[in-house]
Amino acid sequence: MDSFDEVKERSDKVLCRTYSRYPLAVQSAKGCRLYDFAGREYIDLLSGIAVTALGHCHPEVGQAICAQTAKLMHVSNLFYQEEQVYLAEKLAATSHCSRVFFCNSGAEANEAMIKLARRYQQKVKQRDAYEIISFAHCFHGRTMSTLAAGQAKYQDGFLPMPPGYRQLEWGDLAALEAAVGPQTAGVILEVVQGEGGIRPVDPEFARGVQELCRRRGVLFLVDEIQAGLCRSGKWWAFQQYGLTPDAFSVAKALANGLPMGAMLCTEEAAQGFDYGCHGTTFGGGGLASAAACTVLEIMERDKLAERAEALGAWAVERFRQIADKAPGKIKEVRGMGLLLGIELTFPGKEVWQALLDKGFVLNLTQDTVLRLLPALTITSEDLESFAMALEENLC
Ligand SMILES: Cc1ncc(COP(=O)(O)O)c(C=O)c1O
Repeated sequence: MDSFDEVKERSDKVLCRTYSRYPLAVQSAKGCRLYDFAGREYIDLLSGIAVTALGHCHPEVGQAICAQTAKLMHVSNLFYQEEQVYLAEKLAATSHCSRVFFCNSGAEANEAMIKLARRYQQKVKQRDAYEIISFAHCFHGRTMSTLAAGQAKYQDGFLPMPPGYRQLEWGDLAALEAAVGPQTAGVILEVVQGEGGIRPVDPEFARGVQELCRRRGVLFLVDEIQAGLCRSGKWWAFQQYGLTPDAFSVAKALANGLPMGAMLCTEEAAQGFDYGCHGTTFGGGGLASAAACTVLEIMERDKLAERAEALGAWAVERFRQIADKAPGKIKEVRGMGLLLGIELTFPGKEVWQALLDKGFVLNLTQDTVLRLLPALTITSEDLESFAMALEENLC
């Protein structure tokens, strides 16, 4: 294909109408740059929605993938595979959770976590508990159960939702205390709500949720799909708060662009799964595992968590300066590491489009929040170019 118009026209005819796409067809990408069919360069501040955390087409990840294609790509989980073990050991070394279940996406990782919570309660604790409690503005995926835990707007037309889910106000500990009962199996929380508008959880609330879960025998589940893997400034965003969830879910950046997810849990919670009770054909296959091993090695070697923390702090300061220079335009600048949100006081579609026209790719969420999820390898020069373009637009 050789033009945007051709890709668009053929896509619109053959693809299901699920995504309303940006007016951009990406033909190739390298590092923090995207290139369209006319050869125009864009600074990528979205990294495939927090996926290509090492930048596009990272050569070492590419080499690991190529080498693995000549060795072993897939045999299924009926067999032991060394790549899967290397990866599980590396992941387990990053937190207090020592058991890993591999899958292929974020929603599947959350499904595994929800299933683990129910099965742990029903089989290990002999409790008739099934309910999963989540919080307003959360996003946990698009499968039926993760939809049931999520926002009502994504449930439209898919009703009825599976039973056993309940949503409470974000930050309302008293409501949680009242809602938890003998039926509650787990509470699921995003430490920084991503799709919900880059909202870091209130530390007191987060610690209160964990304490309440422990006290009432409910599993504390954390969704690290967007915030995890060094983006927050630590391996996992819950570590910023000193939390120790019973289980957490991972996906997105895990294999820097190959589909992969994982659920990690403590030895205690892991008792909820027995042989044969849960599974997936592709999960933890050789190819994705080899790529992910390389990703974790690079994140550690290049100290990408520290880098995300420092660059993110700088960016928040810089965006707050813009807010001061453009009174009444920016409601709030929020962030943790390289999860950055600039909430406008008005719908942001025009600002978003103007920035795209200037060559900056980012996302607009909740109608008013400019969301930046750049590669952890982005330079301060690229972030400054974006800041200047935003300033020009708003001031
Ligand atoms: C916090 C969070 N959880 C779950 C998901 C779902 O992940 P996936 O789209 O890989 O199923 C996402 C995706 O954006 C997410 O941001």
